[in-house]
Amino acid sequence: MNRWRLDGSTVLITGGTKGIGKATAEELASLGAKVCVVARSKSQIDASLNEWRQAGLTIEAICGDVSTEAGRAGIMAEVKARYPKLHGLVNNVGKNIRKKALEYSAKEYHDIMSTNLESAFELSRLCYPLLQGGAIVNVVSVAGLTHLRTGAPYGMSKAALVQLTRNLAVEWASAGIRVNAVAPWYTRTELVGALLEDKGYLKEILHSTPLGRIGEPEEVARAVTFLLMPAASYITGQCLAVDGGFTAFGF
Ligand SMILES: NC(=O)c1ccc[n+]([C@@H]2O[C@H](COP(=O)([O-])OP(=O)(O)OC[C@H]3O[C@@H](n4cnc5c(N)ncnc54)[C@H](OP(=O)(O)O)[C@@H]3O)[C@@H](O)[C@H]2O)c1
Repeated sequence: MNRWRLDGSTVLITGGTKGIGKATAEELASLGAKVCVVARSKSQIDASLNEWRQAGLTIEAICGDVSTEAGRAGIMAEVKARYPKLHGLVNNVGKNIRKKALEYSAKEYHDIMSTNLESAFELSRLCYPLLQGGAIVNVVSVAGLTHLRTGAPYGMSKAALVQLTRNLAVEWASAGIRVNAVAPWYTRTELVGALLEDKGYLKEILHSTPLGRIGEPEEVARAVTFLLMPAASYITGQCLAVDGGFTAFGF
């Protein structure tokens, strides 16, 4: 067995048609994994599948919403019909609404929590029977490790996801399931595209980033991929920041 490859593995990635999820799907497929991505937009799925087919990558897709119970039930029915076993689950979907704490409506709070946190908790539990001996990677954020100007619910959802990572790592170790997290800092994707266009804000971000640049989705994807590999066989319950040194930077 080559511990730096994923031949014969099947990996499910939520939110794999854009940004970090898409880069992860491509990295995993290039290392031999059969990958299935989940996203809501059918047209975006079709465009991605077409691109991957032309690139010779084995990536399939399921259309569904991970933030609702009905959405997850539909996704899992499809997953079980297609794959007898999963070697990896990447809980990557995330959203944000940036506001001051006093300004959030109950609906906005619930949207962020159900998309970022509940989806990962429930999908991990639903995939558990298929994942025996496999691995989970939760895509969190450095906003779950320290204060950022993201708004409280986003930071809260990501901090809870870091703790979910630790709890499941311990509970599911006996099933041979490793559970880890990757925490990106600013990464060039649609999620933060508008923010990065603000020159003043970008300057402040770069000032807090020892490596002096924004991350690329492929750089986060490589960390996720490593944690899914046999090469990471003794690593569980950890959160790896992919942040250009942001969390190490003091004064
Ligand atoms: N980019 C950054 O700077 C950054 C920094 C720290 C952490 N992160 C985290 O990294 C993860 C990925 O972020 P990204 O920047 O790559 O995001 P992105 O570019 O906005 O891509 C999000 C992906 O998730 C899918 N998606 C969104 N909501 C969904 C839902 N309810 N059900 C199913 N699919 C859904 C989207 O497709 P559809 O819209 O078609 O569903 C898309 O494929 C998130 O958890 C985010 O919080 C990002």
